[in-house]
Amino acid sequence: MVRLDRFLADESSFSRSDVKKMIRAGRVSVNGSFDVKPELKIDPENDCVKADGVQIMHTGRVCLMMNKSAGVLSATEDARDRTVIDLVKEPYANKLFPVGRLDKDTEGLLLLTNDGMLSHNLLSPAKHVSKTYFVIITGAPDEQLREKFREGLDIGDKKPTLPSLLMFLSVDGDFLEEHITQSANGEDCREQLPHGMISPLQMKEFCIRSIALADYARCGENECCAAVSVTEGRFHQIKRMFSACGREVRFLKRIAMGGLMLDPALEPGYYRELTKEEWKLLEG
Ligand code: URA
Repeated sequence: MVRLDRFLADESSFSRSDVKKMIRAGRVSVNGSFDVKPELKIDPENDCVKADGVQIMHTGRVCLMMNKSAGVLSATEDARDRTVIDLVKEPYANKLFPVGRLDKDTEGLLLLTNDGMLSHNLLSPAKHVSKTYFVIITGAPDEQLREKFREGLDIGDKKPTLPSLLMFLSVDGDFLEEHITQSANGEDCREQLPHGMISPLQMKEFCIRSIALADYARCGENECCAAVSVTEGRFHQIKRMFSACGREVRFLKRIAMGGLMLDPALEPGYYRELTKEEWKLLEG
């Protein structure tokens, strides 16, 4: 059972406050009765809800944003290890699947949905949806590494990786400034963005808003922090890209998919439903 205003807002493009106004204006009926209030509990499967005479169908689409914790598998089931599905409680338990995979030791943004089309659109190589990560790697910041990532790397697959965006961060969360506004040859990075890639400024925004100081604090001696964004989803891609440059990934956390950023208020292992605005960020 869900509240009438919640049901209508979820199933339409109207906000919760617009929906409340519509209900109070007598534009909404439930099973033929207009004597309804926003807080009325309805059964979306069986009750007939109409707005301005048009029946509102129950699609039941759900998408959760999870901050995956390390040590949990992003699979639906596993005989030995705990999976992200095990973390999901009622009313979503066993109804959703993860959108793609993160390695067992990778943390951060993982979507769980029952919407196959959403999943397809986010994962299909043809769609080039960017995935942005905070990473701690061995060694020092190096402009040449940025060039290599931008050009594409041979990581042992048939084809080199598509151009990707790499920016180094200081351990107190600042960007190394020249990386934001300029590329190595002094041109604006935005000119060279591959299809689907976020801009350096958007990457900066994601980093400022979603990376916690505790994440930076993991950076040890002879290690450095960076943000990297790719528009593919190859197996162990980020680790293999750094490995191809002689670096080892010590910590990996996904902070965004396309324009959708991980909510910094979500503790590892916790999740919440996407807001309407977040659905729009994913679906354009
Ligand atoms: N790339 C990796 O190497 N691991 C992940 O979990 C995600 C991207």
